[in-house]
Amino acid sequence: MGCVNQVLILILISLSALFFSTSTAQDFKCNTPGRCSALVGYSPHNTTTISDILNLFNIKNLRNVLGANDLPLNTSRNHTVEAKQTIKIPISCLCSNGTGVVYNGPEYTVKKDDGLYFIASEVFAGLVVYQKIQSANKITNADLIDIGQNLTIPLPCSCDDVDGDNKVVHYAHVVQTDSTLESIAKQFGTNEDTLKKINDIADDSQLIADRSIDVPLKACNSSIKSESPDNGLRVANGTYVFTANNCVKCRCDSASSPTLQCEQTQLKLASPKWEKCPAMQCEGSESLSIGNSTKIGCSQTTCTYAGYTNQTILTVTTVDTLTTCSNPPNIASRIGSSWSVLFISSIHLIPLFLHLFQ
Ligand SMILES: *[C@@H]1O[C@H](CO)[C@@H](O)[C@H](O)[C@H]1NC(C)=O
Ligand SMILES: *[C@@H]1O[C@H](CO)[C@@H](O)[C@H](O)[C@H]1NC(C)=O
Ligand SMILES: *[C@@H]1O[C@H](CO)[C@@H](O)[C@H](O)[C@H]1NC(C)=O
Ligand SMILES: *[C@@H]1O[C@H](CO)[C@@H](O)[C@H](O)[C@H]1NC(C)=O
Ligand SMILES: *[C@@H]1O[C@H](CO)[C@@H](O)[C@H](O)[C@H]1NC(C)=O
Ligand SMILES: *[C@@H]1O[C@H](CO)[C@@H](O)[C@H](O)[C@H]1NC(C)=O
Ligand SMILES: *[C@@H]1O[C@H](CO)[C@@H](O)[C@H](O)[C@H]1NC(C)=O
Ligand SMILES: *[C@@H]1O[C@H](CO)[C@@H](O)[C@H](O)[C@H]1NC(C)=O
Ligand SMILES: *[C@@H]1O[C@H](CO)[C@@H](O)[C@H](O)[C@H]1NC(C)=O
Repeated sequence: MGCVNQVLILILISLSALFFSTSTAQDFKCNTPGRCSALVGYSPHNTTTISDILNLFNIKNLRNVLGANDLPLNTSRNHTVEAKQTIKIPISCLCSNGTGVVYNGPEYTVKKDDGLYFIASEVFAGLVVYQKIQSANKITNADLIDIGQNLTIPLPCSCDDVDGDNKVVHYAHVVQTDSTLESIAKQFGTNEDTLKKINDIADDSQLIADRSIDVPLKACNSSIKSESPDNGLRVANGTYVFTANNCVKCRCDSASSPTLQCEQTQLKLASPKWEKCPAMQCEGSESLSIGNSTKIGCSQTTCTYAGYTNQTILTVTTVDTLTTCSNPPNIASRIGSSWSVLFISSIHLIPLFLHLFQ
């Protein structure tokens, strides 16, 4: 794209910004102190690869992107991402002064013929508006940026709970032409009123194509303790993450369970802190590791991941009374198919326990 064109575009945009000052507003409301996990939806304008996306968004760990998109762990960095295909990018979000902005986010190095508008709407595909890049980098004249200059890209995000369903992961979604609040709500399992409220918009006429809006995705409930470094961990429905220095993998499938399902990882350890993953047995139920559960009579004991410290993995043992106890076939379906292996193994344990009590 030529330099002259870009200057013209910038002038036009600056002019229109004068008349429609709200068009520069693109902050996500965020009033929860501290950091949390969030997502942005990147739909590249040109065909690219996972590897180039990792570089663009400053993400070191391929697994984080694979998990956010529920892609298999053996997916190559060279995997092609088609133009307009959407990849969810996991970010860390920091709220301050009422708005959320990515923490430790992308640093973009200006290339020949780049302009702020091009970087915002083409390279980052509308996730931010150029005015936000301008102010985040304290650029006085939007037309004057230098090749080789590094720009912080202030991706929008939020950590706020949403009424009636406080476990959400906020997702920055770039609005497509012709979409409506109804279609967006339907696509992401939320509702129109929530979208209107958190984005301060009244109706479809205020949806702007190629701009991002805040969409709360359903996330799983977890038992992670507040002292654990990953206590802000929120896992969106249909995604997985690695935590506890890669020793634990947690997945959210809100259809089968409202709580996070964590298990020991089978990774050849790439843990930066630990030579070997700590033990993951639950205290008081040493036969159970994280993710295991066992049934005795009408109660089910589950060993659940509860965070980590410098040296250990924290666990909690929860005991649930199975309401469908008198009807065994229902129990199996309630626990869901992912639990069927554990269910079978716990069947083997029952005779053992019965024997003990005789
Ligand atoms: C990835 O692993 C799955 C099985 O888990 C296998 O079916 C698939 O072929 C593998 N893909 C690649 C690219 O190795
Ligand atoms: C990825 O691409 C690079 C260069 O294009 C190549 O050297 C490398 O072998 C590829 N890796 C895989 C796993 O295909
Ligand atoms: C916070 O917002 C207020 C009003 O919008 C502004 O005056 C102030 O400079 C902001 N502070 C920071 C640290 O951004
Ligand atoms: C996408 O490709 C077109 C045509 O080659 C090019 O003009 C444009 O700059 C590319 N966009 C990005 C973000 O690289
Ligand atoms: C910009 O960032 C790159 C890579 O992080 C670095 O090599 C380069 O020195 C930085 N440039 C400036 C002007 O700070
Ligand atoms: C959760 O994800 C599943 C598919 O992964 C989907 O069928 C379901 O509608 C989602 N639920 C919500 C509340 O988003
Ligand atoms: C989430 O967990 C908390 C504490 O563990 C519990 O009080 C709450 O009822 C749970 N919510 C759901 C929807 O399961
Ligand atoms: C508990 O889970 C571990 C893996 O996380 C598995 O190897 C083991 O067999 C399970 N034990 C029981 C009793 O289900
Ligand atoms: C964890 O390790 C860091 C540095 O190694 C240390 O400063 C901190 O006190 C440790 N915390 C605990 C709870 O042991």
